Amino acid sequence: MRSLQDKAESMDPFHRRGAAIHCEGVPLERIADEVGTPVYVYSTAGMQRQARALKAALSPLGDPLIAFAVKANPNAAVLATLAAEGLGADVVSGGEYRRARAAGIPAGKIVFSGVGKTEAEMRLALEGGICQLNLESMSEAEMLSEVALSMGRTAPVGFRVNPDVAAGSHAKISTGAAHNKFGISIADALQAYERARVLPGLEVRGVAVHIGSQLTSLEPLEAAFAKIGALIRLLRAQGHEIRTADLGGGLGVAYDPSAAAPPTPEDYGEMVGRVAGDWGARLIFEPGRIIVGNAGVLLARVIRVKPGPDRPFVILDAAMNDLLRPSLYDAWHAIEAVVPTGERMIADIVGPICETGDTFAVARSIDRVAGGELMIIRTAGAYAATMASTYNSRPLPPEVLVNGEQWAVVRDRQEMDALIGADKMPAWLAR
Ligand code: LLP
Repeated sequence: MRSLQDKAESMDPFHRRGAAIHCEGVPLERIADEVGTPVYVYSTAGMQRQARALKAALSPLGDPLIAFAVKANPNAAVLATLAAEGLGADVVSGGEYRRARAAGIPAGKIVFSGVGKTEAEMRLALEGGICQLNLESMSEAEMLSEVALSMGRTAPVGFRVNPDVAAGSHAKISTGAAHNKFGISIADALQAYERARVLPGLEVRGVAVHIGSQLTSLEPLEAAFAKIGALIRLLRAQGHEIRTADLGGGLGVAYDPSAAAPPTPEDYGEMVGRVAGDWGARLIFEPGRIIVGNAGVLLARVIRVKPGPDRPFVILDAAMNDLLRPSLYDAWHAIEAVVPTGERMIADIVGPICETGDTFAVARSIDRVAGGELMIIRTAGAYAATMASTYNSRPLPPEVLVNGEQWAVVRDRQEMDALIGADKMPAWLAR
C-alpha cells in the first residue's frame, strides 16, 4: 500500500495525502497560511525527475548540452536546482544571462538566442563567456562582428534557421513558419554562412532551429530536423565546419490529464537519434516547459462564490496578472480544491480583475468549494510566475520551493510600497 502511494507521489509531486493536497511532504495549507495567497509552489523532485528523464533519453547521443530555457522559469532557486543536475541555460536577454550566471550555470553551458540581441547584450555575453550565440539575421552577424572586434574577442556563433514548418501549436507560440519573425530562411542560409565566414571576430560553428512551444506531436520537429540535416550536409560540402546543432525546445506537457499524452523524453530521444544520430555534431537542446511545467502550481484562495445566470462564479484571489496563459492563449489548466470533499460543481473560475478575460476556466466541473477554501491551478511551473504583471496594482506573487519535507520562500511577494513607490512625481506636480 505504502509503496503504491510512494509511486503515485513520485509521478505527481502534487498529490493527495490524507485529506489534502501536498507538494512532496509539505501540506499546501501550511504554505498558504504562512506565506498567504496567491503563491506559486514548485517541487524540486518534479523538476529533477524531468531533468533526469531528458538526460537519460539524450545521453546516448554523445555529450549533448541540455540548456534550460530560462524564460520558462527564471527563479534563482529553480535555476540552481537545474544547475545541480548539470543543465546549462538558453537565455534571450541580458537579464536572463545574468540570472543564469548568478545561479551558478557556467558560461560554457549558456547559449544566447533571440531575434533582437542588442550591442550591450552581445558585450555582456562576450565579456562573461558564452557557449554559442544563435544569430537570426545578417545584420545581427555584422553587429556582433564589430562588437567582438572592439573587445578583441571571438564570438562562437550559429545561425538560427527558419525551416518553414507548421508547428501545429497555438499561433502565438509557433515560430518556425516562413512568415514568423525568427531565423533566416533555408534558401538564404548558404549565403549567410558564406558572408559570415569572412566577418572578423566570428567563429561560425553551428546551426540552430526552434519551431515552437507546447508541441504535442513529434512530426513537425522531425520534419524540421530533417531539413537541418540536409542543410548541414550542404554547408559542409561548401567547406563550412559545422560542429554544433541546436535543436531548440518545444516539447509539450500534459495540461489536461484526460487528453492524449504528449510525447515523452524517451520518444523524443529516439526520434532525434534516428534523424540526427549520424550528423557528427554536438547536439544542443533548449527545453523549458517539459522540465518545469508540471513541477509547479499556483495556489489561491476562493474569495467568494457568486451566483451567476448559468452557473456560479468561483472568484479566486489569483488573477490574470498572476497567471496570464488562460487569458492570452485560451490555455486550459487543471483546477482542483486543496481539500476535496468528493462533491462536484460546475462553475466559471475567475479572478478579481476588472475585465472578462480574467477567467481561468468556463463551465468547468470542479470540486465543490466555498469562500475561504484553497484551490490549485496546475501546470504552473512554466511561463507562469515569469509572465506575471502588476495589472490592477496587484503585487507580483511570491514563489515557494519545496524539497521533501523542507520548503522555503524563493521570491517574496512584492511589497505594496515598492509597487506604488516606484512611480516618480514630476516637479510640476510635486506638492
Ligand atoms: N528555445 C527558444 C529559442 C525559444 O524561443 C523557446 C520558447 C524555447 C527554447 C523553449 O521552449 P519550450 O521547451 O519551453 O517549449 N509563453 C508561452 C510560451 C512561449 C515560448 C517561447 N519560446 C506559453 O505560456 O505557452
